[in-house]
Amino acid sequence: MTDKADQLAEPTEAAAGAPDRPLVVVLHGGRGDLSRRLVLPSLATLQRRGLLPAHWALLGTGRNVVGTEEYESFVRESLAEFGHEGTTDDDVAALTKNSVFTGEVGTDDPGELPGVLAKVRATLADAEGSDPADVVVVHYLAVPPQAFADLTRALAAHGLNRGPDGRADTVRVVYEKPYGTSPETFAELDAVVHEVFDEEQVFRIDHFLGKEATQNLHVLRFANELFGSVWSRAHVTQVQIDVPETLDVAQRAQFYDATGAALDMVVSHLFQVAAEVAMEPPRHLAVSDLARAREEALADFRPLDPANDVVLGQFEGYREIEGVADDSRTDTFIAARLWVDNDRWRGVPFLLRTGKRMAASAQRVTLLLRRDPDRLFGDKVPGGRITLSLAGDGAIEVTSAVKRPGPDLDLAAGTARLDLDDVEPGEPLPAYASLLDDVLHGDRALFTTPGGLASAWAAFAPLLGPDRPDVHPYKPGSWGPAEAAALAEPEGWALGE
Ligand code: BG6
Repeated sequence: MTDKADQLAEPTEAAAGAPDRPLVVVLHGGRGDLSRRLVLPSLATLQRRGLLPAHWALLGTGRNVVGTEEYESFVRESLAEFGHEGTTDDDVAALTKNSVFTGEVGTDDPGELPGVLAKVRATLADAEGSDPADVVVVHYLAVPPQAFADLTRALAAHGLNRGPDGRADTVRVVYEKPYGTSPETFAELDAVVHEVFDEEQVFRIDHFLGKEATQNLHVLRFANELFGSVWSRAHVTQVQIDVPETLDVAQRAQFYDATGAALDMVVSHLFQVAAEVAMEPPRHLAVSDLARAREEALADFRPLDPANDVVLGQFEGYREIEGVADDSRTDTFIAARLWVDNDRWRGVPFLLRTGKRMAASAQRVTLLLRRDPDRLFGDKVPGGRITLSLAGDGAIEVTSAVKRPGPDLDLAAGTARLDLDDVEPGEPLPAYASLLDDVLHGDRALFTTPGGLASAWAAFAPLLGPDRPDVHPYKPGSWGPAEAAALAEPEGWALGE
């Protein structure tokens, strides 16, 4: 640590727009899978783009203490395997140079973290010429969700939920998903978190909200009359939020068997995206207004009707996977019809679908527009669509009825596509990196709120009770059980037609 402290005093290059106060990211679970795959690569990307402050440090913590050198190797290996495109040796060097490993903090035993944190804070403040109390500390809880409550209490037990001068605004905390696995466990966790932190300190990650295309929903709609004017039941006949995956679950069978597609994807990602589509225009595109608009949309979700509006599936062969019970009823597929009870969306089904081992991987939000007129020159008019692809760097597509090129006056559907990474000037940020950047700036617009999550759980709750439907089998590589097709009638699913 002594040698390391000197290195931490050397500034790194920060671009305009990078946070200006020194920063310590405390990565709890710093050697875990999530850190390795997502958090460290995101930090490296922010580093490469100059989006970290000039003075910053990474403190990894974990149950099995390793030396700082060993941690450096871990960081290096993580970036070699999972670093985003463009990650250079310099980024790896900057990240390893700034990383220190300490033992984890427990309620009874603070371990080394408080002492190391105080030292690092002093070094960074000294180098920057600022007050140690102004250094921003982000506790990133990349630990298994069962550990969230205890770790939260442990942070409070050792005063780590506040700055050295007792201020709350210099300390932030990031929770991974799942933030609760039922309405009850969500409420319990949230009570513990609010005993320890002010809501303004809390950042609950749902990485679908950080995707470039999801963020474009606000701009596309609120800045363009062309899209904004059709965004309601007057023009939209269905909304489809479709996230089929070809992915298998064999690598994480135990987690998956206890969770299933509905809990893993619907109550979290798909509901949040549905709320993004459904929200009323916020007064400003400012932090609190945007989060509130999403929260209000979630409050209008009608509780799911398992008997009429939900089809669960399980791919054939799932029960043979090691770690999965022979009689498992876990859903690896769900299609649901959600109703949003407000003036804008009354009567328009929001169709949600996701599953593993499906025919294709995609992440698409599609607004199917009403056909008006239904026929033109005797031909049936192909339905118009507005589609956002959330996958990768994101894309926007507009499908409309056009004349089929050729000698006759026939109709066809034509699609114009805008890949967001083609927009100049600009360079998309992966979702996790984008959200981490927001945490560093204290911008909570794209994080979930307790009110929003309470509504999400209320709408999802019927699927946790005795009315939960049984799973239908489906062939791996297919579009799921045939029963799911009926939910999307009369239009049908836009994907896999
Ligand atoms: C995760 C789910 O939260 O999101 C996974 O647990 C899913 O099951 C993943 O595959 C999808 O993430 P991405 O990065 O492909 O959008």
